[in-house]
Amino acid sequence: MRTKYQVALRSLWAVVFILLLSSCGSGSTFDQLVASRRSVRSYDATKTITEDEVRTLIATAQEAPSWANVQGTRYYVVMSAEKRAALAPVMGNNAQNIKDVPVVLVTTFVQRQSGFFNDEPSNELGDTWGAFDNGLSNAFLILKAKDMGFDTLIMGLRDAEGLRRILGIPSYETVTSVIALGYGAGNPARPTRKDLSEIVKFF
Ligand SMILES: Cc1cc2nc3c(=O)[nH]c(=O)nc-3n(C[C@H](O)[C@H](O)[C@H](O)COP(=O)(O)O)c2cc1C
Repeated sequence: MRTKYQVALRSLWAVVFILLLSSCGSGSTFDQLVASRRSVRSYDATKTITEDEVRTLIATAQEAPSWANVQGTRYYVVMSAEKRAALAPVMGNNAQNIKDVPVVLVTTFVQRQSGFFNDEPSNELGDTWGAFDNGLSNAFLILKAKDMGFDTLIMGLRDAEGLRRILGIPSYETVTSVIALGYGAGNPARPTRKDLSEIVKFF
């Protein structure tokens, strides 16, 4: 004869099992991750991120596809308070957005690799394929960051030459975005998205 306790425990396990089954393959975890990511413009200055955590993020970003697997994206990871302060003057209005973040990542791509064959562009998009690959790897990076409990902000408004000077970025790399990485303070609203009918044509 089973005790009430055993019956309750069995029911609990059954509920856990059903919940696990219902989450398998439904895509809900991925959808929740995507829905929870926001561009965050204020951060908790008391929380830090480790170099190992940044390495984990970049390793995931490396899994993104790239033209002929050239993996042209490069990362300049700014973690010291001194270097972070040095970035403020070259970030324009975005300086306000990075003042409390523990990590700032500057991403670049190596020129004339992606979209190139024998140092010749393979098609009319020329050396813009590097930015395409860079965007893909950054997309992986910001989603992995959210998965690890961090928040991010991609910033395109920045002084590329200033960043080049401060971080010693070589002339054969093109500076793309700056990414703030930290623990968000506050809950930004989701900017609305266009209706699919405005952006898709099915044939
Ligand atoms: C390439 C790119 C450049 C951006 N540049 C800036 C920027 O300089 N400053 C800023 O505050 N947000 C910037 N953003 C963030 C966008 O404004 C934001 O992604 C958009 O409003 C949608 O909001 P969500 O990311 O919360 O969905 C940029 C985003 C991208 C992808």
